[in-house]
Amino acid sequence: MKTKIAPSILAADFGRLAAEVEAVQEAGADWIHVDVMDGHFVPNLSIGPPVIEAIRQATKLPLDVHLMMTNPERYIGDFASAGADHILVHQETCPHLHAVLQDIRKHKARTGVVLNPATPCDTISEVLEEVDIVLLMSVNPGFGGQQFIESTLSKIAKLQKQRQDLGLDFEIEVDGGVKVGNAGRISEAGADVLVIGTGIFASKDYASTFAELRRITA
Ligand code: DX5
Ligand code: ZN
Repeated sequence: MKTKIAPSILAADFGRLAAEVEAVQEAGADWIHVDVMDGHFVPNLSIGPPVIEAIRQATKLPLDVHLMMTNPERYIGDFASAGADHILVHQETCPHLHAVLQDIRKHKARTGVVLNPATPCDTISEVLEEVDIVLLMSVNPGFGGQQFIESTLSKIAKLQKQRQDLGLDFEIEVDGGVKVGNAGRISEAGADVLVIGTGIFASKDYASTFAELRRITA
């Protein structure tokens, strides 16, 4: 299976959002990654359901919606109706994680759990059967353009082992600080999906950045 690439629109030009989404789709994006930040769980604020609805009009690609917010359980229906295909919640914000995942499935979206750099893989062992995507943060969430945390590579290996031991098939996604310079070794370490913000949107020519990413990833 080839490594999927999910451009993070956090780094796009918001004034031309539909055109930016169309441009990365044209360049070969597999998913569109959308970062929702509440100024509470993370220090930054970003966007909510109305903007996701607008992105939904601009593309048929799966919308991979990453909720960096407290009490995400209150908004699962809103994000699903706005057009989210994948709804990813942080382990750190969900004391009733199993129930939240069931609710996401009830709304016909794929389920995702996100782990901060400091949160061990073991904290989600009991719910992995309910999970379609595990997203490993490779920066502390809240901002684009940060440096990749190297210990994520061994965390990918731990998660792969858990997946194999349990006979499951969730996808392993990595988010933060991924770019042409390190995408090869992150994909080699076992990531199935790479989220890339500034590494794509700050590049001059999306098509040649994608060509380079495809060349260096498995
Ligand atoms: C960070 C977000 C990321 C961010 C990645 O909190 O979850 O998705 O947009 O941006 P880069 O690729 O610039 O690190
Ligand atoms: Zn993200």
